[in-house]
Amino acid sequence: MRIVLGSDHGGYELKEAIRTHLEEQGVEVQDLGTHSTNSVDYPEYGFAVGNAVVRGEADLGIAICGTGQGIAMAANKIRGIRAALCTETFSARMAREHNNANVLTLGGRVTGVGLALDIVDIFLKTEFAGGRHARRVNLISEIECGEKVSTERRNTSRG
Ligand code: RB5
Repeated sequence: MRIVLGSDHGGYELKEAIRTHLEEQGVEVQDLGTHSTNSVDYPEYGFAVGNAVVRGEADLGIAICGTGQGIAMAANKIRGIRAALCTETFSARMAREHNNANVLTLGGRVTGVGLALDIVDIFLKTEFAGGRHARRVNLISEIECGEKVSTERRNTSRG
């Protein structure tokens, strides 16, 4: 399994712990930075991690900022990315099983290292269940591609 990692300064220390943890398990890790606690802009790293996933350079991505919020928002702007912010293990499992999330985001100032490593392990080992969940995930893609038009827009265009 190939994993791409990225963080801003708020997620730097947790990213380092996750990289060590994954490398100890023999996981192939691409670390896109940041490489210190100097202040940087989280959208750059969310974008970089998401891009690496959609380009097929990694199977899954992990992106970390102070809260996990901003970096999730940034990654989710990339077509094909389904980034899930997880603060506990149940959501991490469901994000893979039901939502086929391809990026996990974490808050380095929110989630302690021990819990974060459990969340990572569960996220990486859980497979997408497919079936009815595939139909729902495909609907997300249709929205993203502009193929699904909202009722409001349809009504407006009729008027
Ligand atoms: C940086 O101070 C902080 O805003 C960032 O790490 C993140 O929490 C944004 O969502």
